[in-house]
Amino acid sequence: MAKTLLVFYSRKGKTKTVAEETSKLLNCDLEEIIDLKKRTGILGFLGAGRDAFLKKKTSIKEPEKNPGEYNLLIIASPVWAGNLPPAIRTYIERFQAQLPQLALIGTCGFKGNSSKIAVEIEKITGKKLIATVEVTAKEVSENNYKDKIQDFVNNLKPIM
Ligand SMILES: Cc1cc2nc3c(=O)[nH]c(=O)nc-3n(C[C@H](O)[C@H](O)[C@H](O)COP(=O)(O)O)c2cc1C
Repeated sequence: MAKTLLVFYSRKGKTKTVAEETSKLLNCDLEEIIDLKKRTGILGFLGAGRDAFLKKKTSIKEPEKNPGEYNLLIIASPVWAGNLPPAIRTYIERFQAQLPQLALIGTCGFKGNSSKIAVEIEKITGKKLIATVEVTAKEVSENNYKDKIQDFVNNLKPIM
């Protein structure tokens, strides 16, 4: 059976909630990407938007798992300023040469915005995402996202 790793970055917990739910359904490995730069408070928020917009990288805690040892990497990421959070950009570029097939769970404030990070991931990696799903922060707050995640998981199952 193909091995799957789900990595996520989450500042406020919405992406974490969705990532944990998905990894339970897939029974796959899960790893949190930790940004070592402080992103809390109003200054943290403003810096986060600026750094994402400028496509900056950051320092991340050294990941324990190597995506090169998996057949599928699912990236769960929020949209920041229409772009990737620096921690996700850093992770992708760090493992660029070893990335397996990719899928995306994009979380965002406004519907449709996860397509922006999908395009960016495909551009950086040169790989086509094999599956994507978008969940809004409101859908997570209202616990109204599980059907979407089930569909996403069902789409992935045949290749696992
Ligand atoms: C700095 C920053 C910039 C954001 N920019 C966008 C954006 O451009 N478009 C959007 O739809 N949501 C945007 N959001 C909302 C987040 O994508 C959304 O709330 C997401 O679910 C947060 O995930 P988290 O709780 O895992 O941190 C932004 C949030 C932050 C903190």
